[in-house]
Amino acid sequence: MQSSRTFFDPALVEKSGSAFIREDKVDEALARLIPNVRITKGRFSCPGFAEQRDLVWNHMDQNHRPLIHRTYGEAMRMFVGERSAFSLTRFGGWPAVIPVFDGHYKDNGFYQILCLFGLIVVVVIIETNKDADGTRMDVDWAIASHKFLRFVHPILDRRLQRLNDVQNREDEQIRHRRVELRTKGYRFVTDEPDFLNSNAMANNVVFPPLASAFSVPIVAWSDGEVRQVDVGDRGYLVRRTGDAIEVWPAICPHEGAALKTTDLHGRVARCPWHGLEFGPRVLRPEGGPLTMCGAELTLVDGKLLVSPATVRPT
Ligand code: FES
Ligand SMILES: [Fe+2]
Repeated sequence: MQSSRTFFDPALVEKSGSAFIREDKVDEALARLIPNVRITKGRFSCPGFAEQRDLVWNHMDQNHRPLIHRTYGEAMRMFVGERSAFSLTRFGGWPAVIPVFDGHYKDNGFYQILCLFGLIVVVVIIETNKDADGTRMDVDWAIASHKFLRFVHPILDRRLQRLNDVQNREDEQIRHRRVELRTKGYRFVTDEPDFLNSNAMANNVVFPPLASAFSVPIVAWSDGEVRQVDVGDRGYLVRRTGDAIEVWPAICPHEGAALKTTDLHGRVARCPWHGLEFGPRVLRPEGGPLTMCGAELTLVDGKLLVSPATVRPT
C-alpha cells in the first residue's frame, strides 16, 4: 500500500518540518479513506474589495464570526498555531458539534476541512489572488461520502454557495474599514496576519501621530449628555458627568471598528465586531493627561483638549 507520506511535498517537509497534504492528492486521500466514495465539486468566486492581507486576516479571525455573521452558530477555537487552527463549531441551533481544521498551507491559500457526523467530509480550498480590479477570492470544495449519502451532496453544495455569498458580503465592512484606515496612516499588528495574532484580543491598531491639537468646548453640554467627538483622523465618545467627562475610544483599539454612541450600554462600550467591552476613562478638570487612541486628552477651562502624544523619556 502507498504510504500517506507521499501525499506531502517531501521538499516542504524537509525545509519546514511540516506540510499540508498536496492539493492534487486530496481526492485520492478521500477515496482511500471512504469506501465507495462519491465526491462532488463546487466553487464560489467573488471580487474582494480589499487588500489580499485583509482577506487572509479576515479568514483567520474566528472571533468576528458569531457577531458579524447571522448564519453562524457558536464556534470555539480549541487550538491555534501560526499556520493552523482547530475549532469546534455548533451545527445551527442543534446540540451537535462539527470539528473544523483551518490550515494556511501557502501564502494565498487555506484549507478548511470539516466532518459532518462522521459521515461526510468537506475539504474547502480558499485562494486569494490579485487581479486587474484588486483582489479575488476563489473557494473550491469537495464533498465526499459513501455513495448512499450522495443525495445530500446537492443540498450541501447549495448551502455552501449561499453561505459563501452571504458571509462574503457581511465581511466587506470589516475589510473595507482596514483599507480606509490605512489611507489615514493607520497600521495593524495583523498586517502580517497569522492565526495567533488574528485571534488575540489585543490592541492591534497602531494609531498614526495626531497632526495638530484640537479644542472642543463641552461647557454647553447638559449633564449626562453623550456625543461623538471627531478630531482629525480619530474620534472619541464623550459623556459629561458634572465637571468631569467620561471618555471611550470611537475607534476600537483591537482591529479598528467604528464605535458609536449607540454602542454604549450604560458605562460600557461594546464593540460590534468581536464583542470587546470597555469601561470609560474619567477625566477631571485640570487632571490627566490621559492617553487614548495615540493622543493626549486634558480638560481645561471647560474644553477638551486633544493633543499629539508627547514622547516621554523612559
Ligand atoms: S475591532 Fe475587535 S473588538 Fe473591536
Ligand atoms: Fe467572516
